[in-house]
Amino acid sequence: MTGKFISFEGPDGAGKTSVLAAIVERLSSYYGDDLLLTREPGGRDNVVAEAIRDLVLSPDYPEMDPRTEALLYAASRREHIQKTIKPALVAGKLVISDRYVDSSIAYQGAGREIGFEAVLQVNQFAIEDFWPDKTIYLDIRPEVGLARINQYRTDEINRLDMDPLSFHQRVSAGYHRLAKMAPDRIVVIDAEQPLEQVIEDVWQVLSQELKVED
Ligand SMILES: Nc1ncnc2c1ncn2[C@@H]1O[C@H](COP(=O)(O)OP(=O)(O)OP(=O)(O)O)[C@@H](O)[C@H]1O
Ligand SMILES: [Mg+2]
Repeated sequence: MTGKFISFEGPDGAGKTSVLAAIVERLSSYYGDDLLLTREPGGRDNVVAEAIRDLVLSPDYPEMDPRTEALLYAASRREHIQKTIKPALVAGKLVISDRYVDSSIAYQGAGREIGFEAVLQVNQFAIEDFWPDKTIYLDIRPEVGLARINQYRTDEINRLDMDPLSFHQRVSAGYHRLAKMAPDRIVVIDAEQPLEQVIEDVWQVLSQELKVED
């Protein structure tokens, strides 16, 4: 594979989607059609992965068993890798995903308390050691992220947004543990700064990683 694979991670409301929109716009002048922006759960134009997304994020199933949820995320990810991410990388593209496997480990492993190792194991079956070249982790206190969502967004509240703060605090702790475990892959960005500064910090990291000139 010749392309590069970058993931964006962070708690709800960290700014992943907002920062990505700006970064993708800046990168598209260098990459054109060789840039694929995708997201998890689900994946661009990936019907199976998107169908599982609809199931797993639906507020209609508040009582879903945590391990069922973890398996569904892993299944969706497998489909995303095989049908969307890897073919793009083989074609030499830059692939950027809004969330990837770290989300499962932080949300299901730490947040739902299934355990880091258990969720990692389930995901290893799905990913077969296929990790991003770089992961941008937008670090924010969960209460700050949730306040942003409540302030700005009323249309798209999903099942995870309805969880108590203690759940989101475990998610945040899970991300910090991951960042310590994989310091070469995961770059921590202070996401409590103004959006323009967060975008600038991310750009510094990515332009260097991708060797694009400013
Ligand atoms: N640095 C920032 N400062 C203030 N507000 C921000 C900042 N970054 C994003 N926001 C706002 O916070 C809200 C959440 O941002 P966004 O949807 O990009 O987060 P996200 O990480 O993608 O969240 P989710 O995990 O729920 O998808 C948006 O309304 C956005 O405009
Ligand atoms: Mg988002």
